[in-house]
Amino acid sequence: MTLSEQELFQQLDKNRLPRHVAIIMDGNGRWARLHGFKSRMSGHRAGIDAVRTATRTAAELNLHALTLYAFSEENWSRPKREIQFLMSLLRRFLKDEIPELMENNIRLVSSGHIRRLPDDCRMQLLETQKITQKNTGLILNLALSYGGRTEIADAVRKIATDAAAGKIHPDDITEERFAAFLYHPELPDPDLIIRTSGEYRISNFLLWQAAYAELYFTNVLWPDFNKRIFLEALIDYQKRERRFGGV
Ligand code: FPP
Repeated sequence: MTLSEQELFQQLDKNRLPRHVAIIMDGNGRWARLHGFKSRMSGHRAGIDAVRTATRTAAELNLHALTLYAFSEENWSRPKREIQFLMSLLRRFLKDEIPELMENNIRLVSSGHIRRLPDDCRMQLLETQKITQKNTGLILNLALSYGGRTEIADAVRKIATDAAAGKIHPDDITEERFAAFLYHPELPDPDLIIRTSGEYRISNFLLWQAAYAELYFTNVLWPDFNKRIFLEALIDYQKRERRFGGV
């Protein structure tokens, strides 16, 4: 028996939701091929609706944060035309979503080397972040030109600079003090990481922060990700016993 979306929603224990969910959105290209489109771009375009649904669902459930892996550092090696298309999709999304973000009290932030984004895209990102900065509900964190190892290397560089300037002593470097140098130290670590498209990899995503995250893999391709699949992932998460290395 398959439960309706409403039944799944009721089944969810609203007091034991993850605070931070992170998603590796994968399978846009395969979705396009499966649906007979010549170009992978159709998959990316369809993926935007899934981004909207995931964000809306996270806000409706009052999650603290949702991080979406929208563009990795490795993605810069894709064909120039595909990169241009993804960047124009992103720019349009960042502009068009402003009313929805405001209506749902969502604050937009980003993680990654955004200086590598095309100027118009980066300007729109900063503009949308500024417009939504006072919102107090869901934090929507877009990982853009993001790499987990780079984030760690960036933190090490900042600490080394402080150490060279005598501001921090090597003996004082603890996990907590290290984490304060990551891109968004104010965000709790993700409790749940979801990856779509049947791939079982972490792909350089939130490497430090994923230490104790629960992982959920689904065969669904990203453009087909919907509220129902999100709820199923959350229910699965609630069935797990998190021990954080204890007994
Ligand atoms: C992976 O699919 C997806 C991406 C590289 C980008 C994700 C982008 C979107 C969902 C749209 C833009 C996002 C925002 C936030 C506006 P793939 O191309 O690797 O698929 P494949 O593995 O099937 O080839």
